[in-house]
Amino acid sequence: MTPPSNAPSRRTVLRGAAALGAAAVVGAARPFDEAVASAPAHGGIFGYGVASGDPTGERVVIWTRATPPARRGEPVATPGSGLGRPLLVRWVVATDPRFRDVVRRGRVRTDPGSDHTVKVDVDELHPYTRYWYRFEALGQYSSPGRTQTAPDEEDVVHALRLALVSCSNYTGGYFGAYRSISAREDLDLVLHVGDYIYEYGNGADRYGPAGLAGVRDGVPATETIDLRGYRLRHALHKADPDLQAAHAQHPWITIFDDHEVANNAWDTGAENHTPDVEGDFATRRRQAYEAYLEWMPFRMPEQRVVPHQGTRFFKRFTFGALADLSVVETRQNRSRQIDVAGFTRTGGGFIPSGVASVDAQLADPSRHLPEPEQLTWLKDGVADGSRPWHLIGNQVVVTPVRFPGAALGIPTVPLLLNSDQWDGYQADQNDLIGHLQAQPPAAGDVVVLTGDIHSSWAMDLPAGRGPGGTYAPVGVELVCPSVTSDGFYEGFSAGLKGQTPEAVVAATRAATGAIQATNPWIRYLDGVGHGYTIVDVTPARVHADFYLTPTPTSAQPDPRLVRSSEPAYATSWQTLAGTRRVVPAGSRLGARADEPRVGRSH
Ligand SMILES: [Fe+2]
Repeated sequence: MTPPSNAPSRRTVLRGAAALGAAAVVGAARPFDEAVASAPAHGGIFGYGVASGDPTGERVVIWTRATPPARRGEPVATPGSGLGRPLLVRWVVATDPRFRDVVRRGRVRTDPGSDHTVKVDVDELHPYTRYWYRFEALGQYSSPGRTQTAPDEEDVVHALRLALVSCSNYTGGYFGAYRSISAREDLDLVLHVGDYIYEYGNGADRYGPAGLAGVRDGVPATETIDLRGYRLRHALHKADPDLQAAHAQHPWITIFDDHEVANNAWDTGAENHTPDVEGDFATRRRQAYEAYLEWMPFRMPEQRVVPHQGTRFFKRFTFGALADLSVVETRQNRSRQIDVAGFTRTGGGFIPSGVASVDAQLADPSRHLPEPEQLTWLKDGVADGSRPWHLIGNQVVVTPVRFPGAALGIPTVPLLLNSDQWDGYQADQNDLIGHLQAQPPAAGDVVVLTGDIHSSWAMDLPAGRGPGGTYAPVGVELVCPSVTSDGFYEGFSAGLKGQTPEAVVAATRAATGAIQATNPWIRYLDGVGHGYTIVDVTPARVHADFYLTPTPTSAQPDPRLVRSSEPAYATSWQTLAGTRRVVPAGSRLGARADEPRVGRSH
């Protein structure tokens, strides 16, 4: 989703794009449009870098794209082209960065069927151990990647520190957040909770600052609607040097949200899908998932054991005696969002709250966000008392949030809610929050890790909301800012044309302050910065450091346009074990309690 705006903004832009219809959507891309995404294919076999992901105590997925060298007269096997010979790729995993002590090795064949991507689920590794890996084909080597297995040893507590990211719109700005993350030595993993890519094109549907048009464009130039388009869009991201660096330095755990397919998707459609023009949604989604699974270091979970609907993507990681991490998937099976005439076109958005007919629809117990089987799996996970912390990697905000209309520039409506969030599925929302409230202390505590709303939040999960802002805290939700995607500030900026950045910042802070005043369980909300959140877990507490881009000023209006700009430390919040509420933390994180093993031979 996109935060609201009192401006023409993207909603109008999207209407414009829809009005353009076929011309905007299926117009032929010019050859040079694809140069940026295809360039690495011309620069050697392993031009898209390396990545690793889904670390467990003994396994990690390693990834690359191996472009076969073109014979004389042959076209290059660029991403999405379907061209190119099969290629035999060798891989090694070592305990040292010079690959003197190789502990695992193998060979894998790749071909156009997987867009020449290579994924290996390396097993028989030691827990909480750092490794280096690389690929080789026809005498060419990839750059080395660094990875590590999870701090997951039975009954043992190790340190656990991750970077939480979401919403990395390529045309929204340079990936300074990823560059900053790539320079960190203190992370076990990066958790990306969705909107790793966006589907928009470079025309009327362009999303992001106008200052980057022609400078940092999407590839393909038009909306991604088929396998070739999604493959190219993923390749564009893997061609980005800052993202490449972040993948090469840390293992990632990722799960898609809506934009990996289309904005505000539900089970059979999406706000940004027009069947008459773009074809069958199920076909589009299948192709989007195919490209995602090819280009991401993602391990498919076991399909047979856990009840689910469709394809199972949700999964759980464990970290010794310290924590588990349930990664949910909330798009594939969700019921269609509630739309209200005059507020949303289709696929949900900000709708009035407190209107009886709307509230009845929102509370309908037959509507679901995750399918019932997945919600049961999630509830069972947080009731398991074997570890003090249950982390939940999640896409859209769980905490109930009522937005005062005045804060969104809609003063005629007292309160609104976002029907694409858990607020739009109140039976599931109440079920989960009620379940958390029912858990005894021995079950441990829950911290939901969320993205999607392009702003930074620290919240108590409130049960029993009563008059005067009373509530019972039953857990905590931390929401990371977007890597680049437009947030509240950009929404206000569009609506306050001609005002200085300082004035727009003041207006944004007034609005986010009003949102907090309406929802006293929101302890922190920043709608200006972009960046990432570092989450650190010890038995005593879960601590979050927020890193945000510099506040826009008249001298530097949009830091996302500056390649060298990086997020800087902004604030810290924490939840102490047993309290189930979030409070300010005095200072930013220091050194880890312990370090993964290095140079441990097998
Ligand atoms: Fe997003």
